[in-house]
Amino acid sequence: MGVYVRVPAKVNLALCVGGTDQEGYHELGTVFQALSLYDEVTAEPAPPGVFASTVRGEGAAYVPDDDGNLAVRAARLLAEEHGVGDAGVLLHVRKRIPVAGGMAGGSADAAAALVACNELWGLDLTPDRLQAIGARLGADVPFMLRGGTALGRGRGDLLEQVPVQGTYHWTLALSHAGLSTPAVFREYDAKAPAPDTRVPPALLDALRTGDVQAVGASLVNHLQAPAIRLLPALARTLEIGLAAGALGCIVSGSGPTCAFLSGTAEEAAELAEALARSSAVRAVRQAEGPVAGAELGGAHGRG
Ligand code: C5P
Repeated sequence: MGVYVRVPAKVNLALCVGGTDQEGYHELGTVFQALSLYDEVTAEPAPPGVFASTVRGEGAAYVPDDDGNLAVRAARLLAEEHGVGDAGVLLHVRKRIPVAGGMAGGSADAAAALVACNELWGLDLTPDRLQAIGARLGADVPFMLRGGTALGRGRGDLLEQVPVQGTYHWTLALSHAGLSTPAVFREYDAKAPAPDTRVPPALLDALRTGDVQAVGASLVNHLQAPAIRLLPALARTLEIGLAAGALGCIVSGSGPTCAFLSGTAEEAAELAEALARSSAVRAVRQAEGPVAGAELGGAHGRG
């Protein structure tokens, strides 16, 4: 009998990049939104000292199942921090969030592992405590625990809820290739851009009033240009989506997934059809935001 957790993907509606700190991390001003495209993690008890995972689904072949897996590292860190002497866990990860896609799939799995092991080991930790541990695993992990729509500062881990009205219909164009986040930040740095972490006030106003059209017009990502320099086909994908009626489009995070915003589910479905015809697009997914962060589920199997 395992503990089942469902965790969403994220898209950054704004990703504004500043200077770097001593460890080379960039200061960010970002707006995250959690989307209804979910990974699932089931935690099963394992003998003391055994921390292992299985990974299946979307891009599973590219996810390590040993200590390189962020979910396994999350479980180990939680056990160390809270002195769970006889801890062990087998984490079954079912992937739907594209791997190396700019949608925080690895961070999502780490967030899910924290929630699952907190329950499995009866630790009863608060969301704040889990977020503090999560921040040590990756800048996006605290948001994946929290979900919704949030403003992220610092490395993206200092979060503040953003008031939002409405449901946002997203179409996601997955790319054949993946992009490494550090490589995209390096490409960004190579052009020595002026640091600017200011999130456009127009975006926050539009989210507050539920003006989807204005949200579409205010999307901004400073990592988009470097991602396109590394994968020029992304420019064509963005053009196709705009021509097919998207209210706005953006490379998600460090890419290469491209995210398109529509006013209704019907418009999103039409957009998905147009994008699916492009040879630059490996697959298309549809999702809505905002949704909750990593959540304990019912008595789900591994099916
Ligand atoms: O925190 P995470 O492991 O997800 O970050 C992956 C990489 O992305 C970091 O090693 C760093 O190169 C880059 N990064 C950054 N500034 C941030 C977040 C990530 O430079 N705020």
